[in-house]
Amino acid sequence: MKISIIGTGYVGLVSGTCLSEVGNDVLCLDVDAAKIDMLKAGGIPIYEPGLEAMVKRNVAAGRLRFTTSVEESVAWGTIQFIAVGTPPEEDGSADLQYVVAAARNIGRHMSAPRIVVDKSTVPAPIW
Ligand SMILES: NC(=O)c1ccc[n+]([C@@H]2O[C@H](COP(=O)([O-])OP(=O)(O)OC[C@H]3O[C@@H](n4cnc5c(N)ncnc54)[C@H](O)[C@@H]3O)[C@@H](O)[C@H]2O)c1
Repeated sequence: MKISIIGTGYVGLVSGTCLSEVGNDVLCLDVDAAKIDMLKAGGIPIYEPGLEAMVKRNVAAGRLRFTTSVEESVAWGTIQFIAVGTPPEEDGSADLQYVVAAARNIGRHMSAPRIVVDKSTVPAPIW
């Protein structure tokens, strides 16, 4: 499947790499251009045992790519995983601005149906 990962941090990079390892074609997006440049150059911005070899293997196989282009990311994945940060506010609640921004980007740029999966930790809404 064609999968986009929005937010290439601890959760996004590990999830995207594992999804490519099992045969999916994965594009990882981040707003942090330095992080994406490092990944494109073969570097790994986090420490996770075994991750570097898995990233290299799947990049070499053409199943794992990195971008800062929202348009490219929304156009790529039939499934869009949101894995951006949700830092705690002073009162302990989660700051959802990055999740909302990622969701808005999908809505603004999609031109075909998209399945959106939220992997960011967010409170369950109480209706
Ligand atoms: N790290 C963990 O062990 C862990 C465990 C359980 C849950 N979580 C949850 O998973 C989520 C992600 O955590 P993390 O540790 O991977 O965060 P992180 O800070 O390592 O990564 C988040 C990434 O999202 C990027 N980003 C922010 N806004 C963006 C946008 N609009 N478009 C694209 N990229 C954007 C940031 O630049 C950053 O690289 C959080 O909700 C966190 O609470 C994390």
